[in-house]
Amino acid sequence: MALTAARARVLRALSRWPPPGRVPVAGWSCRSDAGGSAGGSAELPPGGYGVWQEQAARDPVGFWAEVARGTLCWDSPFHTACQAGLPVGTARWFLGGRLNVSVNCLDQHVNKSPNRVALIWERDEPGTEVYVTYRELLDLTCRLANTLKKYGIEKGDKVAIYMTVSPLSVAAMLACARIGAVHTVIFAGFSAESLAGRIMDSGCKAVITYNQGVRGGRIIEMKKTVDEAVKSCPSIRHVFVAQRTDNKVQMGDCDISLEEEMAKADSVCTPESMDSEDTLFLLYTSGSTGKPKGIVHTQAGYLLYAALTHKYVFDYQQGDVFGCVADIGWITGHSYVVYGPLCNGATSVLFESTPVYPDPGRYWEVVQRLKVNQFYGAPTAIRLLLNHGEEWVKRYDRSSLKTLGSVGEPINNEAWQWFYHVVGEGRCTLLDTWWQTETGGICIAPRPSEENAEIVPAMAMRPFFGIIPVLMDENGKVVEGNDVSGALCIAHPWPGMARTIYGDHQRFVDAYFKAYPGYYFTGDGAYRTKKGYYQITGRMDDVINISGHRLGTAEIEDAMADHAEVPETAVIGYPHKIKGEGAFAFIVLKEPTAHTDRIKEELKAIVASKIAKYAVPDHILVVKRLPKTRSGKIMRRLLRKVITEELSSMGDTTTLDDPSVVKEILDAYQKYKEKSSS
Ligand code: WT7
Repeated sequence: MALTAARARVLRALSRWPPPGRVPVAGWSCRSDAGGSAGGSAELPPGGYGVWQEQAARDPVGFWAEVARGTLCWDSPFHTACQAGLPVGTARWFLGGRLNVSVNCLDQHVNKSPNRVALIWERDEPGTEVYVTYRELLDLTCRLANTLKKYGIEKGDKVAIYMTVSPLSVAAMLACARIGAVHTVIFAGFSAESLAGRIMDSGCKAVITYNQGVRGGRIIEMKKTVDEAVKSCPSIRHVFVAQRTDNKVQMGDCDISLEEEMAKADSVCTPESMDSEDTLFLLYTSGSTGKPKGIVHTQAGYLLYAALTHKYVFDYQQGDVFGCVADIGWITGHSYVVYGPLCNGATSVLFESTPVYPDPGRYWEVVQRLKVNQFYGAPTAIRLLLNHGEEWVKRYDRSSLKTLGSVGEPINNEAWQWFYHVVGEGRCTLLDTWWQTETGGICIAPRPSEENAEIVPAMAMRPFFGIIPVLMDENGKVVEGNDVSGALCIAHPWPGMARTIYGDHQRFVDAYFKAYPGYYFTGDGAYRTKKGYYQITGRMDDVINISGHRLGTAEIEDAMADHAEVPETAVIGYPHKIKGEGAFAFIVLKEPTAHTDRIKEELKAIVASKIAKYAVPDHILVVKRLPKTRSGKIMRRLLRKVITEELSSMGDTTTLDDPSVVKEILDAYQKYKEKSSS
């Protein structure tokens, strides 16, 4: 699609460089200023990984203090590295320190190598990639920051970013960081109602969006969705609308054309000096109960953790092209498309498309064209591509690839082997990386390790520097030794950990610090192998993972509760060959009807409009009643056993109000299966 006139104007403005009056940011101290290196994460000490590993295990706080000084540009230095009380869910890092995240991600690199490529925007249309240098990205960021300021956005204000992946969306995140505003990026696949819920919870003053998005050759009506959402959001004063396509959209009173304003704006914006513990962003994620929660990450600790893990898990070297294909709407996009790579002065790929557009060779065609060195993606995409056959991979030159990474959900052995042997030709390191929105960055991954250390297929294996994993038994006791399983907890705070849930610290404490006092509980189970490696066994709560997207089954149930003819529902995750997990809904009807097909379609539409398309259950089964305990709790465990057909291990059913319900549901399921296969 052609550039719009406004975008072309911004790009023309960018070519007049340097703008008058640009001076390097004074008074900021960067390690790289002294050493003349490229900036970014601290370098390994003589002796390599092992030295840091030992130091971080012995003295985590001392370790983090040292790497924080060696990695970040500080406005003023911190006086206390860490103050934490895990039993009450508090952790503060680098107290007294002041810095600006956008200076770390932009100015420090612009001052040394302004023409280094920061972003390669791999647009939806193959072969139309756009290169953006650090200098250009700083320019975009400052103009966007000044535009936000002009319309009254101040330090501490919340700004929603509802955009597909692009340099402008990255600039929007960094512009917030520059002026001390707090961004909350909302995945472009979310419905108006989900968007409104997040805007209202966080009290956003503005939304930044596109007129339309483009993905997989299709148009996404983003502005329309925003219009619908903001109707119920009185806190919104302005909607900034950028142009991704040439199509005109209706502009209302509070709508502002972003590019037009940016073209007029000053390209210099003095960075706000932020406290280490000021909030950098909120990112909403699902829990096992209630509405999605706004996970809070702060400035210094988050940035340090994203940068250090980016460099040492992937072995990123200066000049490499880093290709994380995640969307910026998720934490993976925040940490490994934007903050980690940019803090390290890396070249980061922004992938706007899908793995199968225009055909299943897209990823590898991109690898060849952009000469990608590290490729980081989700198992669900690998499983999808695997089904399309090897030819799509082999058609393209993948010799630039050095490291492959997998994230977001368990990678099954078949997908791991295919990724490793077919994509990586058996010569690239393949890393299964485990972490969460709440952890800020990768916590368990085969690296960092001695260079030639063993990598076991489909296993996250080793904790990152300073991460101390612990397994807990049912009685809340630490499980010692190897060849054991338990609830995965982390024993010591680390800089990247979430600080709270926005507006509800008690929920934060209850969700993560109550089950095992003194420890952070991840919600996942894990097995520690005979050799002491970690293998994630899956969620222990009612959170499911559809195509790497995290979702609470309760959210789907709550959405379906809107249907007048369906008084009761229970949703569980079930194994899905490509998506990893899918949603399976059991529903009870108010009264028997011949219109179950219509009701099912209505339920699907409700879930799509209240949450997102990916949340729609694949299966909806009508049952007479749900299996409940005498106290009225739904026994989802039994429903899971029914659909995985593990009938021999139903477990204890004596607490059921009426045990005959099991046979009833089994019969209904058998009939449903026969009907679906015929
Ligand atoms: C949940 C976190 C990690 C960033 C993207 C997802 C599951 C994540 C793995 C892995 C097995 C994994 C966990 C975790 N998960 N990575 N390598 N192996 N499971 O972040 O949306 O916050 O989801 O994803 O269950 O708790 P998220």
